[in-house]
Amino acid sequence: MKLEKSDILKALETITVAGEGKNMVESGAVKNVITFGDEVIVDLVLTTPALHIRKRAEVDVMKVIHEKVYEKAKVKVNLKVEAPAVQPQNNEIKGKPIPGITNIIAVASGKGGVGKSTVTSNLAATLAKMGFKVGVLDADIYGPSVPIMFDVERERPLSVKEDGKSKMKPIENYGVKILSIGFFTQPDQAVVWRGPMAAKALNQMIFDAAWGELDFMLIDLPPGTGDIHLSIMQSLPITGAVVVSTPQNVALADARKGVAMFQQDSINVPVLGIIENMAYFTPEELPNNKYYIFGKEGAKYLAEDLDVPFLGEIPLVQSIREAGDAGRPAALQTATPIEKAFEELTKNVVQEVVNRNDNLPPTEAIKITTMAGCSAVKK
Ligand SMILES: Nc1ncnc2c1ncn2[C@@H]1O[C@H](COP(=O)(O)OP(=O)(O)O)[C@@H](O)[C@H]1O
Ligand SMILES: [Mg+2]
Repeated sequence: MKLEKSDILKALETITVAGEGKNMVESGAVKNVITFGDEVIVDLVLTTPALHIRKRAEVDVMKVIHEKVYEKAKVKVNLKVEAPAVQPQNNEIKGKPIPGITNIIAVASGKGGVGKSTVTSNLAATLAKMGFKVGVLDADIYGPSVPIMFDVERERPLSVKEDGKSKMKPIENYGVKILSIGFFTQPDQAVVWRGPMAAKALNQMIFDAAWGELDFMLIDLPPGTGDIHLSIMQSLPITGAVVVSTPQNVALADARKGVAMFQQDSINVPVLGIIENMAYFTPEELPNNKYYIFGKEGAKYLAEDLDVPFLGEIPLVQSIREAGDAGRPAALQTATPIEKAFEELTKNVVQEVVNRNDNLPPTEAIKITTMAGCSAVKK
């Protein structure tokens, strides 16, 4: 039996992948079909991070080929996941895009201590585990904690030559590339970064670094809504922002300000959604017991009120704190409820990036000349 590529393609045209309007041939998901004899290899590229949808696509491919072409065909499916690409960028209006970096996500919080760095680290580790190329830029000038959470706090980035220019090479662990404002200081030294100094260091870590190709760069912003935020948004085309909050009222009030900062006209960075951290306390040995010590579902209600997506909740558990201190994100502990919670959250974030890129033009790096126009940004 000799299989024909055209017959295979015709069969694949009957499959629609969940979340895509077109069939998988039309949508471009089928990258290649090779046949020899009764064997067929199908190369598929999907943008969905959802494992069940990917599995489903794989099963469907086998099924339609067996049903519609040849029931004994030996089918092999090569499935790759690619990050959803932003629309082509218009460089005239764009400020400075960073070559090779597809999606930049700012992680913000109104208040400090709500778990912004914890969420950033676990999101990054989960994205890497899903097969995405991920970088973290730790921009928290007040307390850079990403190096500790990735167990690289004693490392210092090396200088490498790229296109004849010296560039800083990010430190890598668990498949995540990291640069941190903390690499510029001694771990036990208190450094007060003044605005312009911090902005300069950040600019170097962004534009004079050898990040290579990245599907996602996550930026761990300092807490609050200060001028360092402005400086970052001025220099970078941020795809979208996520805001982390606990369910507690004081944190929610600040989270609201955080969302407002991104949404004001002069900044206009799409808010991908709100994440509720420390949603409830749960003892490891009694995972079904939930204690709502900071209040219940506050961040969820805030998301509803502000009409932005709610991305998910992470419980307060001792192992998350311990993993952070030990330098290995808790989401890497396989087959645990924590891993599952972060996977759920990460999928929702990627889904919102897909929605955002489908529906909105690329973000322009903002052009602000004075602080005066930015009421929500004043300290
Ligand atoms: N879901 C959680 N469960 C347990 N501990 C947490 C959780 N989220 C954060 N923490 C702990 O709370 C502290 C503050 O978190 P961190 O991520 O550093 O906050 P931020 O970056 O917002 O200042 C850290 O010690 C961290 O390990
Ligand atoms: Mg932090």
